[in-house]
Amino acid sequence: MKLCMIGTGYVGLVSGVCFADLGNNVICVDKDQNKINSLKKGKIPIYEPGLEELVLKNYRNKRLNFSTDLKDSVKKSDIIFICVGTPTKKGGNNADLSQVYNVAKQIGKSINKFKIIITKSTVPVTTGDEIEKIIRKKNKKKNFSIVSNPEFLREGEAIRDFIFPDRVVVGTNDIKSNKILKALYAPLISKGAQYLNTSRRAAELIKYASNAFLATKITFINELANLCEKTNINIEDISIGMGLDKRIGGRFLRAGPAYGGSCFPKDTKAIINTADRFKTNLSVIKSVVKSNKNRSNLLLNRVSKLLKNRFRNKTICFLGVTFKANTDDMRDSSSLTMIPVLSKKGAKITYYDPTGLKKELSKYKNVTFKENIKDALKNSDLVIIHTEWNDFKSINFKSYAKGKKPIIFDMRNIYTPTKINQQGFKYFGVGR
Ligand code: UGA
Repeated sequence: MKLCMIGTGYVGLVSGVCFADLGNNVICVDKDQNKINSLKKGKIPIYEPGLEELVLKNYRNKRLNFSTDLKDSVKKSDIIFICVGTPTKKGGNNADLSQVYNVAKQIGKSINKFKIIITKSTVPVTTGDEIEKIIRKKNKKKNFSIVSNPEFLREGEAIRDFIFPDRVVVGTNDIKSNKILKALYAPLISKGAQYLNTSRRAAELIKYASNAFLATKITFINELANLCEKTNINIEDISIGMGLDKRIGGRFLRAGPAYGGSCFPKDTKAIINTADRFKTNLSVIKSVVKSNKNRSNLLLNRVSKLLKNRFRNKTICFLGVTFKANTDDMRDSSSLTMIPVLSKKGAKITYYDPTGLKKELSKYKNVTFKENIKDALKNSDLVIIHTEWNDFKSINFKSYAKGKKPIIFDMRNIYTPTKINQQGFKYFGVGR
């Protein structure tokens, strides 16, 4: 099939290249000429394991192409995916849909035959209705169909999540579009993905509800971790014990720092906002947002206790600063809340991240990037394991921390306390 992905961010690029790999002809469109030039040279603007190889392979075999010409690309394609960003509006909680509507207007001017127009971007309920109105201004109803097909890709796992999704959700009441999309996704369905056809509004809400539910699960376990710390219980036992109940499931029950990234913080706020618009109170999600906001304060209090409230002349080493492992993404990472506070209190911060130096941290006093784990650990009083990269899972602290023995605060519980204690280090995790 001939596909056009508009927006070469996370969603558009990963979905585009994966669709190409499944044998479709895909044009990825972006208004950013530099980005398109780089992509043509095989340079990938985002960090995603396996993506570069897949882009190069499909670009070379000509199933994947890149363009800045939206109108021409739409004309050449049968299915158009809108994959532009829907960030939180400045000074508010609702999603900024200006990019989506702008793209819709341009698509509306380029329809030369029947097109299926799909929102893959995360968009609030009724956005599809608005897009339909925009396109309808310049086109007959029979020449297009507006569908919602949300993505459920995780950063760092995006290619695998695309190829082996738990489900493919297609929101449309149009029988013809549904048939075409079922055929497009047939290679994934044959490998076990569930195909679910719903109304367009339901598909839009499924995406937000899923992210909000996962955020709730994490927040739930994080709050229980606080209780475990007071009652000498290991939170890992609780996660396993709960997760074995198939109605609950064990995934997304790992206690840790506040959840972050480009999706959960933004989407939880946006679903609350949508509900408010329809005069419905999503009190559970509201309290999740509040609890998550407070999470970094709680962890900072623990840091304070570990350092006996003395920050001056103390060196704190952060291992990993992104919002999770296997990504270079700093958006809403809890390190961005914690590091500035610690630096302000007078601590020196060193950090190492496998994805390199972070410009977001450059403006803070006494915050230094180190090229490797060993240099980052040198002379530290406290080591904070902030993300769960494999690189951090078997550090020989004894050989790295010569002389000074830092306290280890493992915010991801990647180590067994007894093993680290045996090496003579004071070790603390979360919820245990
Ligand atoms: C999330 C969803 O998982 C995807 O399904 C969705 O497609 C995506 O948002 C999106 O809307 O585009 P992502 O933001 O890449 O994916 O990250 P996750 O792997 O879901 O992690 C989010 C946050 O939760 C991270 O801060 C992570 O450290 C935290 N987390 C996750 C925990 O603290 N505990 C867990 O058990 C799981």
